[in-house]
Amino acid sequence: MKTRKVLIGIAAVGLAFSLAACSGGGRGGTGNDSGAAKAGSNKGALVGVAMPTKTSERWIKDGDAVKADLEKLGYKVDLEYGDDKIPQQVQQVSNMITKGAKVLIIASIDGTALSDQLDDAAKAGIKVIAYDRLINGSKNVDYYTTFDNYKVGVDQATSLLTGLGIVDKDGKETGKKGPFNVELFAGSPDDNNATFFYNGAMATLKKYIDDGTLVVKSGQTGFTQIATLRWDPATAQKRMQNLIASTYSDGTKVQGILSPYDGLSIGIISALTGAGYATTALPVITGQDAEAASVKSIIAGQQYSTIYKDTRKLGTEAVKMADDILNGKTPEVNDTKSYDNKVKVVPTFLFQPTVVTKDNYKSVLIDSGYYTEADLK
Ligand code: BGC
Repeated sequence: MKTRKVLIGIAAVGLAFSLAACSGGGRGGTGNDSGAAKAGSNKGALVGVAMPTKTSERWIKDGDAVKADLEKLGYKVDLEYGDDKIPQQVQQVSNMITKGAKVLIIASIDGTALSDQLDDAAKAGIKVIAYDRLINGSKNVDYYTTFDNYKVGVDQATSLLTGLGIVDKDGKETGKKGPFNVELFAGSPDDNNATFFYNGAMATLKKYIDDGTLVVKSGQTGFTQIATLRWDPATAQKRMQNLIASTYSDGTKVQGILSPYDGLSIGIISALTGAGYATTALPVITGQDAEAASVKSIIAGQQYSTIYKDTRKLGTEAVKMADDILNGKTPEVNDTKSYDNKVKVVPTFLFQPTVVTKDNYKSVLIDSGYYTEADLK
């Protein structure tokens, strides 16, 4: 009895040794015992880049920048646009996995729709970087890079207050109490960023709504009431037309509009001018992305502000993360608490946004080379 136990013990130890030898990368092994890539081992690997839409200039710039930076490092790139259609993006990500991509960089349309694809990616050892928009509800999101989305909302609301003269350029209250009629717009409910923008903005505006300085005449302040599915400019335009007809038919004017994205601001401005607002007497209107058409509108004195997010930096960061992963290094992050995707807090590299108005567009957008003077003519 005793001898049998000893023999089994010896056999077990032997087996353990041979298993260790295999996984230790001995001849015939993978040479990769931690699952991490070694420097150079992924030279020329394929990286899948999924962008949401081409209807907005920013995503075209993002896609182009990410692709060019990856190619400079010798990677192959599959860059796809989902045309704001969830099934299309799901299919594109599936194809990238099938084609053997080693890293996926994804700016999602609906951050919760990609769970099955991310499971497949994880099984195949593919790492996933969420690009600008967090992917919710999956443990298989490895990294995230974005701008401080809550701060974007704070900045949009602050610039609305500045434009109305309630606070000055240093953020100090001027004592101006209005009351000012304002209306609020939010982004797409399936985009995680939209709630961050909304929360940051509402936290900033609350005090002024509560004390009556700002009057949301329609009474529509809840996120779902003011959200704009897929960030569609036509939807915002329609809502603005409805607001004018329902709330401002008594001849009162809306004096401020919180808009979370330049495309929506353009739709809102069309609704206002269509209803008889002179282009010289538009409300204070905010925006985001510093898209050329909206910067031109700012220069012309129509839109009041936008939020500039240097997509070149974001692209460079996403590529750096991918390159680190493909070389077995751990990407650097600077935020490990803000972006909980309901399953995990995703390690994030955050950038800071900048408010742009007529006063600073030259120094911020032209001096940095983001635009040339000619782009804004
Ligand atoms: C981005 C914004 C953009 C919006 C609409 C958001 O996820 O963070 O920069 O304005 O999508 O495209």
